[in-house]
Amino acid sequence: MSAPLRKVVFPVAGLGTRFLPASKVVAKEMLPVLDKPLIQYAVDEAVDAGADTLVFVTNRYKHAIADYFDTAYELEQKLERSGKQELLAAVRGLIPKHVRCVYVTQSEALGLGHAVLCAKPVVGDEPFGVILPDDLIWNRGAGALRQMAQFAANAETGVIAVEEVPREETQKYGIVDADMTAGRAARVRHVVEKPKPEVAPSNLAIVGRYVLPGRIFELLEKTKPGAGGEIQLTDAIASLLREGEVHAFRFEGTRFDCGSKLGLVKATLHFALQDPALAQATRAFVAASS
Ligand code: G1P
Repeated sequence: MSAPLRKVVFPVAGLGTRFLPASKVVAKEMLPVLDKPLIQYAVDEAVDAGADTLVFVTNRYKHAIADYFDTAYELEQKLERSGKQELLAAVRGLIPKHVRCVYVTQSEALGLGHAVLCAKPVVGDEPFGVILPDDLIWNRGAGALRQMAQFAANAETGVIAVEEVPREETQKYGIVDADMTAGRAARVRHVVEKPKPEVAPSNLAIVGRYVLPGRIFELLEKTKPGAGGEIQLTDAIASLLREGEVHAFRFEGTRFDCGSKLGLVKATLHFALQDPALAQATRAFVAASS
């Protein structure tokens, strides 16, 4: 897997039921943390990792993501005429010029593995990244996917991001069996999707970042429905392990689970506290409310 990571897949066809009623009309990936939607943070991380092709796996109701990345001529003209250069740059610079967006439709909600498989015609047989925008990862240096891509290029391996979670939460995640005592990365011995705490091999959870070989598509084609009756990416990774290496990678950064209300609140507070224009007032508000 020594080729650079050019393509990144964003599975964004989910219904976002945890954010109903808002998600009736607002795609959950468009929910903002301050002034940027979750999908923008994910795209920034992909571009930081070197991607020049962004593949969005969406559904037929979700036009907002394509609209968001499209050029908004009227808005740009208005901002230009009124001399609002900073805002103009903000709406124009969502994606660098050399990066292209491709939209693929997942016609049936058959699971994350199926969603990734929908990207096969665009990705082909080369290593690619996957970012689940619900998992927002903040850090000061290289983004999580860049860290993983660098590791993958050096070690010629598939890479999945992991993080320890409380044992009672294993049922929310893919869980990895790997000996992480030696450092940031370790060979995965086994992965299992959403095990009950009493049978989970560890409390090392998969976070929504993957670097995978093109071979995963053939394995996904053969993957039968698993946990929750869905075609699981984790199960295809388990098949990949039978023929080659996959590493678990503990990235540098803080993850916010923005697929949950509490995670979105935490991310919003965190980013407000990082923003010089908001930090002081936010701190004062939190102190007064607690
Ligand atoms: C998916 C994956 C799971 C992973 C999680 C990370 O689950 O199937 O292995 O741990 O993302 O966010 P989901 O959150 O879609 O249920």
